[in-house]
Amino acid sequence: MPIWLIAIFILSGFSGLIYVGNHSGWFDAQVYEPFVDSQHLEAWARPPGPGEELKRGKATFGTLCSTCHGDTGTGSATTGCPPLDGSEWVMAAGPNRIIRILQNGLAGPIEVKGGKYGGGAVAMTAVGAALSDQQISDVLTYVRNAWSNKGKGAAPVTIEQVKAVREKIKDKSGYFTPDELLKLPEKD
Ligand code: HEC
Repeated sequence: MPIWLIAIFILSGFSGLIYVGNHSGWFDAQVYEPFVDSQHLEAWARPPGPGEELKRGKATFGTLCSTCHGDTGTGSATTGCPPLDGSEWVMAAGPNRIIRILQNGLAGPIEVKGGKYGGGAVAMTAVGAALSDQQISDVLTYVRNAWSNKGKGAAPVTIEQVKAVREKIKDKSGYFTPDELLKLPEKD
């Protein structure tokens, strides 16, 4: 066999391997076209979805809110903590009021689901003041979509909404009152 023919065989075999390698993530068993390598695939396969923010929100709820509002958001008539599950405040069209409650706290009494809560010595402190915009967006998105609030179509609370409200109330010190909040549009 002439040497040039052997050379052509070797060259075409080699370029064939390069081609396959190029189009299959260098033989990574998990990578196929159109992904060129495993990082490319990872970036596409797991976009940060609402699942992640709900998980983070649930964790924050467990550390910061459940002692008062209960693990399942039922609140407690004995301690004067109102329910979050089924609360018209939580499920309002926009997060306008609940972002303010987390940032500055709330001194009632407040009416939730037809019952009276808070007031007197019982108030909600500014538990969200030290949280990041994202943590507030996560935990509020979670309470709007947990327990029986799930599936009611409450829109997620975005980081931008948290930022915008925080900017508006940056000069406000002290608790909000329910009356003050009710004067605000439900959604703005
Ligand atoms: C120290 C106990 C306490 C903690 C911790 C707490 N809350 Fe509250 N929360 C209250 C009380 C009490 C009220 C009612 C205050 C009032 O009107 O006097 C309230 C009111 C609310 C309301 C408005 C009324 C309703 O039931 O919808 C929301 C929303 C709320 N809290 C969300 C949260 C979230 C989210 C967290 C965690 C980030 C949290 N709270 C942590 C005690 C607490």
